Amino acid sequence: MRLDDLHLWYLGNPDFPMYVGAMRLVAAGKGVALRYGQGWLDHGFALSEDLPLIGNEFLPPGRYSSDVQRAVGAVDDARPDRWGEKVIRFVDRPQRLSLMEYLYFAGDDRFGALGVSTSASEYRAHEAGPLPRLEDAQRLSEVAAKIEASEPLTALEAKIIAGGGSPMGGAKPKALINIGGEQWVIKFFNNEPVDAPLVEHATMTLAAYAGIRVAQTQVIDLVGLHALAVRRFDREGGQRVHSISAGTAIRAATASGQEPVMGYPELARILRRVGVAQDNVNQRDARELFRRMVFNILMDNTDDHEKNHSLLAVSPFENGRYQLAPAYDVLPTNSGQGYQEFVCGAQGADSTLENAMSECQAFGLEASDAAAEVARVIEVVDQWQTHFARIGVLPRDIENLAHRIDGDYLLVQRMGFDPAGFQGLPKKRSRKSPFFKA
Ligand SMILES: Nc1ncnc2c1ncn2[C@@H]1O[C@H](COP(=O)(O)OP(=O)(O)O)[C@@H](O)[C@H]1O
Ligand SMILES: [Mg+2]
Repeated sequence: MRLDDLHLWYLGNPDFPMYVGAMRLVAAGKGVALRYGQGWLDHGFALSEDLPLIGNEFLPPGRYSSDVQRAVGAVDDARPDRWGEKVIRFVDRPQRLSLMEYLYFAGDDRFGALGVSTSASEYRAHEAGPLPRLEDAQRLSEVAAKIEASEPLTALEAKIIAGGGSPMGGAKPKALINIGGEQWVIKFFNNEPVDAPLVEHATMTLAAYAGIRVAQTQVIDLVGLHALAVRRFDREGGQRVHSISAGTAIRAATASGQEPVMGYPELARILRRVGVAQDNVNQRDARELFRRMVFNILMDNTDDHEKNHSLLAVSPFENGRYQLAPAYDVLPTNSGQGYQEFVCGAQGADSTLENAMSECQAFGLEASDAAAEVARVIEVVDQWQTHFARIGVLPRDIENLAHRIDGDYLLVQRMGFDPAGFQGLPKKRSRKSPFFKA
C-alpha cells in the first residue's frame, strides 16, 4: 500500500473525531503539505500560526536541498522522531519510507490531538493493538534494546512493542505504557555512563523546587536497572490536548524568508503574545521559561532543543491561546560543551548566566527581578548533590556528574553571581561585574 494521500483528523474528544484536511507528499521529498477541508475552515482553528484558516494548500518550505524535510506547521509535531522511525522500520517495515509512512504508522496515540487516517470520511488510524502495561515493562525494555542495537525482532517481540513503540518523538528508546488506565511515556536505560532514568527523575524533581512545573515522573525497577515513566501532559482524562513544539511555534511566528531564531527569548516573546492574559498566566509562563533556561544552564542540561519544550493549546476553538507545557527531558547532558542548543541571549547559546540575563526584558523581567530568579535557581541547584543522593543516585554517578555541574565553568558562575549588582545602582558602581562577587 502506497500512502500518497493521508488525512488529518482532530481528536480533542476522541469519541468524535473531526476532519481537518488532506495531506500530500510534495514531490522530490520536500515534505508534507496540508489543505484544510471545508468543515474545518468553517468550524476549526488554526493548528499553528502559519496555518491560518484559509482554503489554499500549505506547502512545506523545503526549497533547498539542505533543508530538513518536514510537514507544514503543527502537522510536523504529529510525526515521530528518530526513535519512533526506527521502531516503524523494525516493526511495521513499510515498503517505502517517506514522511507519510512515518506519519501513518505512528498510530493513534501520537503527541497532541491530531490523528492520521487513510480516509477522509472516517478516522481510520493504523491499528497496533493495546498499549503494553506496567507488568510488560521488563520485556518491553529488552525489545527496545534489541531495536536500539538494530537486531531483528521475532513476531512476538514486535507485537509487544507494536502498541506503544512508535508514537512519541525523541531519539532515546521509549514506549507508551498504560499505568492504571493512564498513558505514560516509559524511557529506557540506554547504556549511558550514569543511571540516566534515575538521574532524569532526580533532575526533574529538583527542578520542581526551583518553581518549574515538571511532568510527573516515577522510577520503574527492572532487573538490574531502572526505567523512567513520565505521565503524559497532553492527555486529560479521555480528552487530548492540541500541543505544538517550541520549534513549530517559533517557525510559525517567523516572517517568511527569515531564519527562525530557536531560543528562549523568542519563545518567551511568543508566550507573552499568544499566552492567556487572564490572571497573567502568560507573564508567569515567560518568567518560568526564564527559570528553566537558568536551571538548564546550571544543571548542564545543554540538550534543550526545539522539541524539548512544548506549548499546549487552551480552548483552541474559542481563542487560539497557548500555555507552556510542563518541563520534560530535563537531565544533565554531561557533555561540558559550554553552549546550549537553544539561544539564551546576546551571546547566542553560550551557557552563561551573563548571557541568560542579557535579554531578560524579552521574558518581561526587569534586571533586578531576573537576578532574583537566578538567585532562587542557584539556591536550589546548590542542593543538587543532597537531592540526588536522597533519590538514590549512586555516589559514583553523582561524582561523575559533579565534574560538570560542580566543575569550574558552572560552579564559578553559580558562586560568583551577585543579585545586588542588578539593583539599579548608580552608573559608576555598576561597572563592577555583578557576575563575580569581589
Ligand atoms: N510527559 C509527556 N507528555 C507528552 N509528551 C511527551 C512527554 N514527554 C515527552 N513527550 C514527547 O515525546 C518526545 C520525546 O520525549 P523526550 O523525553 O524528549 O525523549 P528523548 O530523551 O528521546 O528526547 C518529546 O519531544 C515530546 O514531544
Ligand atoms: Mg527530547
